[in-house]
Parts: sequence; structure tokens; C-alpha cells
Amino acid sequence: MAKDTPQTFYLKDYTPFGFDVESVHLTFRLTPETTRVISKIRFAPKPDAADKTFFLHGEELQLISAKIDGQDATPDVTDKGLTCAVPSTPFTWEAEVEINPAGNTALEGLYMSNRMYCTQCEAEGFRKITYYPDRPDVMSTFTVRIEGDEPVMLSNGNPMGAGEGWAEWHDPWPKPAYLFALVAGDLVNHPGSFTTRSGKEVELNIWVRPGDENKCAFGMEALKKSMKWDEDVYGLEYDLELFNIVAVDDFNMGAMENKGLNIFNSSCVLASPETSTDANFERIEAIIAHEYFHNWTGNRITCRDWFQLCLKEGLTVFRDAQFTSDMRSEPVKRIDDVITLRARQFPEDNGPLAHPPRPEQFQEINNFYTATVYEKGAEVIGMLKRLVGDENYYKALKLYFERHDGQACTIEDWLKVFEDATGRDLQQFKLWYSQAGTPRVKVSEDYADGTYTLTFEQSTPPTPGQPDKAPRVIPMAVGLLSPNGDEVRGTQVLELTGAKQSFTFDGLASKPVPSILREFSAPVILERGTTNAERAFLLAHDTDPFNRWEAGNALAKETRVAMVLDGAAPDTAYLDALEKLVRDDEQDPAFRALVLSPPSQADIAQTLHERGYTPDPQKIYDAAETFTQTLAQQLETSLPRLYAATTVEGPYSPDAEGAGKRALNGRILSLLTRLDGGEQAARQYEAAGNMTQQYAALAALLKAEKGDAQSQAFFDQWQDDRLVMDKWFALQIACAAPEKTAAAAAGLTKHALFDMKNPNRFRAVMGALAGNHAGFHHASGEGYQLLADSLIALDKLNPQTTARMCAAFQTWKRYGSDRQALIRAQLTRIAGAEGLSRDTNEMVTRILDA
Ligand code: PHE
Ligand code: ZN
Repeated sequence: MAKDTPQTFYLKDYTPFGFDVESVHLTFRLTPETTRVISKIRFAPKPDAADKTFFLHGEELQLISAKIDGQDATPDVTDKGLTCAVPSTPFTWEAEVEINPAGNTALEGLYMSNRMYCTQCEAEGFRKITYYPDRPDVMSTFTVRIEGDEPVMLSNGNPMGAGEGWAEWHDPWPKPAYLFALVAGDLVNHPGSFTTRSGKEVELNIWVRPGDENKCAFGMEALKKSMKWDEDVYGLEYDLELFNIVAVDDFNMGAMENKGLNIFNSSCVLASPETSTDANFERIEAIIAHEYFHNWTGNRITCRDWFQLCLKEGLTVFRDAQFTSDMRSEPVKRIDDVITLRARQFPEDNGPLAHPPRPEQFQEINNFYTATVYEKGAEVIGMLKRLVGDENYYKALKLYFERHDGQACTIEDWLKVFEDATGRDLQQFKLWYSQAGTPRVKVSEDYADGTYTLTFEQSTPPTPGQPDKAPRVIPMAVGLLSPNGDEVRGTQVLELTGAKQSFTFDGLASKPVPSILREFSAPVILERGTTNAERAFLLAHDTDPFNRWEAGNALAKETRVAMVLDGAAPDTAYLDALEKLVRDDEQDPAFRALVLSPPSQADIAQTLHERGYTPDPQKIYDAAETFTQTLAQQLETSLPRLYAATTVEGPYSPDAEGAGKRALNGRILSLLTRLDGGEQAARQYEAAGNMTQQYAALAALLKAEKGDAQSQAFFDQWQDDRLVMDKWFALQIACAAPEKTAAAAAGLTKHALFDMKNPNRFRAVMGALAGNHAGFHHASGEGYQLLADSLIALDKLNPQTTARMCAAFQTWKRYGSDRQALIRAQLTRIAGAEGLSRDTNEMVTRILDA
């Protein structure tokens, strides 16, 4: 098969563009299939530029005309862009191109979703709109005129005027092209307003399709809370008269921070008690905050090039996590984040797709919007804050905004700010940005004559392209407990910098029990020989809520690992500890729900793999079933009381307290359903006044294979609501038994409401398939085959979403040789598919190279 060798881009090759862009004027003449884009751009050559080539990116454009200073120009055009001879003094470039929004199923550039026009330009989508230096370090002001019949026509910045068939917008803040946005369609707004702390009135709108107006109120409140929080905590104010959010049904990602015109996947903004679960509400609040916070960390200060992506994403994820902790519960948020990190980032960091938070090369940048860039990027900032302290952190951030406002920056700029603000040398710390892989930290201890010694040894396994790693700076938050459960040393941050290092604590009357890596102070894997008795002690006594949960989580894992490896029975001491905790009404319900949530089966597979075993997904599934069944029986007599005590009465409110109670209630219901044949769940389904309860009941029933009637009722009730139907699609697959999972997913791909072109629906089905560990990895290989078939089909329509979902195969090397052979065959088949996109080709090649 003849394929062009794909081009690889390198961080080390960075060269600035040879021209300043002084202003950009764009006119859009909108029609679904033949939209015209007329650009008028003022360029000024940089006298001392090393590279004076006038190259403009442009892909899938039909060039109608090009002029320089009013004279016809004759550029050299390829399928990547154009070059042209240009004057050595400032000049005006004018071009007219034609594009086809209706035919754009990749959802990048200008496309149509449900008859509405919208754009997605990050990272490199603007080049599908017009010829332009489409790179984040080229910043300019934009003036936009939209011509068309749509009732609402929006772009970035402030409105300059509108009339029959046209609207004009001007964004006074210079920005890179990836932050450009345009939306036009039949939309209605949910309005709001916010007065900034300096007294400026900002008009706020959430724009949706008619019929969705009643799902905007929660998002609007979340937006106002975010604006206030950024003022209070970071001293950052909004900088335009208007802030618009638009909900779009077809969107590859969660949402996008376009200046003054955020565009959201409708699943990340629309919310109502009837259609959204507590988890949906929390996620929506976090994503609205995340996109809003980008206004300063991303837009006012942007990235020099895409290798620096974690500069804006890591920081903005860190900020939205701080926000959620402040709005809700700090320990619960931390535990949730660590669960996600281990589920998404650890497999990436310990497999063929491992890359540093700042990668040094890529073929397709869309493949680097990863858990490592986002979540590990945020962890790195959390470590930095812990090392320099809160006061220094905010001092450094203040300097960052003063020094770099309006600039396109690098990780070097970011670290320099911290060095200047705190006087600390961050050379070694910087390794977190350049080295991939999760460090392992081995812990040993010693106690003699009142002195307790903790010794840490760090090492990081090789990752693709990085065989050897240097020791990193690892902040280890540690506390010590006495055997009677009192804390004898409060949390202290030990700075591990060497490959092996010891820390001593004097004056201890007896050998303490250490609580290590409190709050998960670094994204590492701890290796420590300890006993279940000690874990149970920490679960009962640790003053750090994270480590209390962690102790329970470790117990759960040990029990399940022993069940899988030795056919052991569930550990009774652990069952007793769980029972005690669940019945302890003094404890936060959200925390109890977390402790009651078993580690995922993928997590057990990963643990077995780390310990040198080959995980058998079916055995892991069986152990999970046995464990949960045993737990249900052990709790049998208390379940009805607990169920009643955690049922939230009265009108629904999506606050953290109610959500915590409902989470615990849902866990209890799932246990109860194992014993009562689904009676309580059926009653809850009937009576449910909100989606959280309806969904929990349906999930419990489907898991017990007792939910056919309710599933049909759910469909009848919600078939016209796309977002609720995504839940219906996903849940049936998530709850299916291993041997039925692939068939359930295959059946749903034939459903009349399955639509490959809608990424949410595709992810609902294929994401649920890949997420059902034992079902996806069933020995028949049907799961692998179905996913591969679907990815090959989707790649022709939407490469970006296809490539992202290839990651479902990234852990393939940890399974047995039969499964490896089956997966290899599917990966090879994808790699050989005709006309495979650059996106998917890069992913499959990296995974196969494992
Ligand atoms: N920049 C977006 C965010 O993190 C994510 C995104 C990337 C959206 C690429 C679309 C395309 O908020
Ligand atoms: Zn972001």
C-alpha cells in the first residue's frame, strides 16, 4: 500500500513567522454548500526575520481570487497552503475562497450541526476557513462581517452593527486564529449579566436551539460563579462587554474557549433535573469554569506553539479543579481526580502512547489533547504550588499575568516567572515537563531509639524514545500516626530529589504508622510492603481524607487481586471495615459512596500487570461479582435502613450535599438489587423525580437483567432528547454481561437513532463498549472486531474522533497472547484501511509499535 510518509513536526524546529499581522477583516457569505470567505489581511514584514517565506496555511479551500495591494497575485498553491512573492514593506493581502460547511463531517473549520453554522478552529482548523498563518504565535485583531439569512449571527468580541441579512463583530484583543469563532442559526438565548469588581457591566448569553431554553439556568449560574471566583482568587476580571456561550450538538470535544464566544458540546452545558444526573451537573459546572478561565490562561496569554499546549491546559485544569473544590468538597474532588488520573493517564503514561506533558514531536497535534497534557499537566502545577507554597504561587501568577499579558509563551517563560518570584531553581523540576512515564517510589522504613526513618527510592520505567530517566523533584506530603490513632506529626512536605533519599523524625515514643503521599501530592506509584491491618488502621484513623480513601482503595485492590490469583474468598476484615464505615452516619455520604465504589476492573488489570501477572478479564469480572455479592449479603440487614436514610426527599437541587447522598443511595440500591430481585429499583424507577434517581434505578435493573420494561419505558419517554438517549445507548452496553456486551453494542449500531456523524452518539456506544472491561476483552474477540469496524467506517467521516478512540487498544500488550493476537489483527486491519487519515494512522502506528 502506497502511503505518503507523514510529516513529523519538532519542537526544536521552532522559527517565528516572518511577518506581523496588523489586522484581519473577514466577510462570510453563508450558504450550506458554497460559503464564500473573503479575507483582507494587513501584513508587515519583520525586518530581522530569519525566515522571510510568505507561507499561508490552507486546506480543503477552493481559491477564487488573490490580490496584493489590489493587484492580482499568483500564489503557488498546494494541498497544505500557498506561498507567494510579496513586497518588503507592509501590504494588504486579499483572498476569496469557497468552502462547503454542509459537507464537513470532520467538525473542524466551518461546519453545520443541526442546520446551524459553527466553527471549531483549535488546533489547526482555521486553515480550513481561509488562507492564513495558522499558528498560535501570530496574533491579530479580527473584524468579521457575516452575511446570510440566519436569525442569529455571532462572532468574537463586541457587536458593531447588524441589519437584515448581515451582522458585524469586532474583537479588540489580538488573538491567534485558533480562537476565532462564528455561529449562525435559529437560536434563542438565556440572558444574564455580571458586574465586574471594577463596576463594568457584562452581558451574558447562553444560546441554544429553540426547545432547550429551559436547560440553561444552571450553566448561567455556573458562569457567574466562575467570573466571581476568578476575581476573588486570582484577581482576574473579564475584559469584554459581552460573553456568549453556544450549545452545539455535534462537537468533537467538550467545549472551546473562543474569545468571547465559547462553543460547547451541548452535553457540557445543557442541564435540567429531569434530564441530567448529579455527575452531569458537576461536570457542566467544571467545564463552564474551565472555558471561562481560559480567557486569561489561554487567550490573554496563549501558547507560542502547540508543543506548549499544557501551558494553557494544565494550568486551566488546575484552576477549574481549585474552583470545584471551593464550590463543593475538596477531598471528594481530589479523590475523583485521582481516580480519573489512574484510569486515563496512568495507562497512557505506562504504554505505547506515553509522552511528556510537553511533547517534543507530533504528526497530528489533535492526537495530543491527552490526559497527560491536561491532567498530568495540572498535577505538575499542583506540585509546583506545594513546593513553593500558596503565597509564592499567587505571587508568581501575578507576575505571569503582568509580564506576559498579550504574549504567546513557553514552559520556559512559565518556570522563569516562578524562579524570579521565589528565587527557587527549577531546573530539576522542569524534568516533569520533558520526561514521560510515571515514577515508581519504593518506600522502606526503620525505627530505633525514638527515631523513625523513611527511605524513598525513585525510578521511572522506559517510555517510547526515552530509555533512561533522571530523578525528579517529588513532593511527598507525609504525616505520622501513633498506634493509638493520634496524629503525632502533622502533614509535612518532604522534597525527594535524589534517586534514593532518607528522612528522619526524632522523639517518637513508639514506631508510628506513616501516612504517605497525602492528598496525592505527586503523580507517582508508591511501592511499599505493608499489611492489610495497617491499611484498615489508616482507613479508620488517618486525618487526611484522601489517604483514608486510599487505604480503603488499597484494601479493595488487595482483596480482589488475591481473589483473582489464589481464588481467595473476600477478605473479611475488609468487609467488616466497609460495613462499619457505611453504617457510620457521622461520615460524609459522598465519602462513604466513594469508599463503597469498587476499583474498576481495568484498574485491577493494571495492578496485576504492574506486579508481573497477565490479567484475565473474565476472572477479574468474576471476582468483582463475587465480592459485590458477598458485600451485599454482609450488609443485608442494614441495607433497607441505609436506603431509606440516604433517600433525598423534596425538590431536587444539584448541590454537593444532595449529590453525595444520592451517590451513596445509588450504591446502596445496586447492592439491594442483588438481594431483592429488583423490587426496590423498580419502585424507585416508577417514583423517580429526577434523572439521577431514574438512571440509578435503570442501571441497577439492567445490571440484574431485570430492566427490559424500564428500558423500553425510558426509550419511550426520552427518544426525542438526544442527550438522554446517549445515556440509554451507553447504559445498556455498560451493564451487559461480558459474553453479551459486543452483541449489545452491535445491535445498537443498527438502531434507527444510531448516528455515526454525531460524536456523542458514537462515543456513547463505542466508549461504553471499550469501557466494559470484561465485555470488550471477551475471549471471542468480537468486541475488538466491532470497534475496529466502527473506527474504519468513522475515519472517513471524522478522523479526530476516530483517532482518539483508538486509545481503547493502548493496553493491549498487558493481556495474554491470544488476546494480543486478536488485537494485533484488528490494529493491522485499521492501519491498512484505504485512505486512512493522518490522525488515525499516527495513533495506530504508535500503538502497534509497543
Ligand atoms: N481547548 C479546549 C479546552 O480544553 C479543548 C478543545 C481542543 C476543543 C480542540 C476543541 C478542539 O477547553
Ligand atoms: Zn482547556
